[in-house]
Amino acid sequence: MKFDAIIIGGGAAGLFCAIEAGKRGRKVLVIEHNSRVGRKIIISGGGRCNFTNIHTRAENFISENPHFCKSALAGYAPQDFVELVKKHHIEFYEKKLGQLFCRESSLKIVEMLLTECKRANVEIRLNCSVKSVLKSENVSAGRTHDSRRDGGGTFEIETNQGKFTCKNLVIASGGLSIPKIGATDFGYRTARQFGLKIIETRPALVPLVFEKNFSEGFRKLAGISLDTNVSCGKMSFRENILFTHRGLSGPAVLQISSYWKPGEKISFDLLPSENAFEILKNEHESRKNLANFLGELLPNRFAEVWTREFAAAKPLKGFSEKELARVAEALEKWQISFTETEGYAKAEVTRGGVSTNELSSQTMESKKVKGLFFIGEVVDVTGWLGGYNFQWAWSSAFAAAQTL
Ligand code: FDA
Repeated sequence: MKFDAIIIGGGAAGLFCAIEAGKRGRKVLVIEHNSRVGRKIIISGGGRCNFTNIHTRAENFISENPHFCKSALAGYAPQDFVELVKKHHIEFYEKKLGQLFCRESSLKIVEMLLTECKRANVEIRLNCSVKSVLKSENVSAGRTHDSRRDGGGTFEIETNQGKFTCKNLVIASGGLSIPKIGATDFGYRTARQFGLKIIETRPALVPLVFEKNFSEGFRKLAGISLDTNVSCGKMSFRENILFTHRGLSGPAVLQISSYWKPGEKISFDLLPSENAFEILKNEHESRKNLANFLGELLPNRFAEVWTREFAAAKPLKGFSEKELARVAEALEKWQISFTETEGYAKAEVTRGGVSTNELSSQTMESKKVKGLFFIGEVVDVTGWLGGYNFQWAWSSAFAAAQTL
């Protein structure tokens, strides 16, 4: 069967691209190997899908080329998606920091996308696995003036449901995170097959694992969370951290994990709203134990364990000014080494992917292979936590759809 465009991957980017191309009168097929579409949308945002962030800017993304995402984000902005959500009467709210969540369920977003697919006459094949992708050169289409680029042709997609052909092939198969719900390396393999460069991939927005010899006391704090300012290199995020059985999670740690590389230390300011030395000095005459005093500012159990590790068990009165300065510094620059992340099984996204040097930032089309597009998470554009990754999926999908 012949299509104008075939999109591989029925996730956020794939479905949205299909809708926009279908609306433009293109005959579109979406190939999804799962038995349902949008599984990541369903589990996203704790079941409420943080579908965009109204403050989205290029600065909220990590990429070898930090400017690459600008054009697509300008072409389809958060407000455009909000209008679509409103049109479908889906209730939503701003949780914090511009993050928009469904009030009821993320299923509403999948239902909305499926309704729009139907309206746009998009065909969706579920349980469809791709065996091979080939491109036959269409010599009559002729070579373009750019010798690095081929002259077009037809893609042949061999699947377990037969062979499909198309002029434009869009890879929207996402990243490597959460393989148990269908993530594969298909996009990267296809890019390599056509000679496109991949920026090394690694888990991002992912919990971190303590080193083996890290204090036992902290391992017993699973479930405790506190507001901190977390830094790695030049990046820092002020949000909660959460102790897990193996290490740390919580929004601030997930954010910084995208910037962290094995071997690097991460620094935590445990009293981000205070000048630690000043508040300790103000209590210098107090008979209060340091742990009890810190327990007024931090969760009690954490304050106990932290004090046991880093300071003497005595009343504040018993500390010299020099000792208080050391305690203050330790509170503001608590450094932790991690051995690894919890990996793709727990990562929200994959950092790296198809190099942006290979793609047009206007259309997401490969510069080398005419008719081959990459959109969404498979591209080396990784958003922060907070709705940015879905916005990238919608925006990159929209950009590609305009030229299909
Ligand atoms: P996506 O992964 O959505 O879709 C890819 C599709 O391709 C899948 O349906 C997959 O089954 C299919 N596929 C893969 N290989 C295939 C093959 N070989 N053949 C056919 N089909 C294939 N982001 C955000 O902005 N807000 C949020 O609230 C969250 N929350 C969140 C929670 C959790 C637990 C995770 C894991 C992730 C998030 N994210 C998020 C990230 C967000 O889900 C992610 O960035 C987007 O879904 C990416 O959209 P894509 O369409 O690129 O990939």
